[in-house]
Amino acid sequence: MIGLEGAERAAARGASGFAEDVVRGLSAPRKALPPKWLYDARGSALYELICEQPEYYPPRVETALLERHAREIAGAIGPDALLFEYGAGSARKTALLVAAMTRPAAYVPVDISREALLGAAETLGQRFPRLAIRPVVADFAGPVALPLDAPCARRVAFFPGSTIGNLDPPEAVALLHRMKVQAGAGGALVIGVDLPKDEATLVRAYDDARGVTAAFDLNLLARIDRELDGDFPLSAFRHRARWDPRLSRVEMHLEATEPLVAHAAGATFAFAAGETIHTESAYKWEPRAFDALAAIAGWRAERTWTDERAWFAVKLYVAG
Ligand code: AVJ
Repeated sequence: MIGLEGAERAAARGASGFAEDVVRGLSAPRKALPPKWLYDARGSALYELICEQPEYYPPRVETALLERHAREIAGAIGPDALLFEYGAGSARKTALLVAAMTRPAAYVPVDISREALLGAAETLGQRFPRLAIRPVVADFAGPVALPLDAPCARRVAFFPGSTIGNLDPPEAVALLHRMKVQAGAGGALVIGVDLPKDEATLVRAYDDARGVTAAFDLNLLARIDRELDGDFPLSAFRHRARWDPRLSRVEMHLEATEPLVAHAAGATFAFAAGETIHTESAYKWEPRAFDALAAIAGWRAERTWTDERAWFAVKLYVAG
């Protein structure tokens, strides 16, 4: 059972929000763009390709954790649970959890990419024909109304991929809190969190040898040129990944290799040589620090599953 909600609302907001964010973000003294604009159809496809690169370890490590512990996680969640997932993407990891769950009540995937979302709903629908699937096209950066009214024993937010790492701590708390409100009394959260590790491994993960992450990052400029009548010279920008140990985050930047002037959405932007656009952050959380963050949002830590190298953690939180 597949329906689609929120598409029109998202479409109505979509393009204009992009123009505003580009004009605001590139007019600031330190140029930056919200990472959500990286994920158009091409960006989402490139992200899938990133996940196949040997340097980008998180999907492999997290998938192995979910495979190894799916029964335990599903057991801790209990039967007849409704699952909702922000930024569902291809929902490949969801299938691992759903397959281990007893009588899952419904699945509500939310994603900004319509294509990715419908593909995921289709694949999951084929694999689990009795599962009620209610996809929602929406940007989860803001409040989203979700169809969570199906009868169920418990509502569970599933948030794998360390997507939470994209958010600055205050935004992360706000999102975790929204999930807690939506999960309601007795609700739970199953979340993937990427952990701090050596700098070389982290930087390589966001700057792979084949240049897929670079293409993913540069696609943002291509998208500006395509959708906002821009003239950014892509060949005058290069992708950079750097680790900030103080903030415990990897930053992706697009760096101008020469002084240049570019236009988009009717505005003009000047770049000095070496000036960058900050396009994405990926915070790496110590498990204890993340527990403290989640606690502010009203989540109590219940279980943690991690790999031998402690590179990644899948964590279960409960409301209260
Ligand atoms: C999809 C946000 C989890 O931050 O690791 C991967 C995005 N960007 N490589 C991450 C991303 C570049 C990814 N998340």
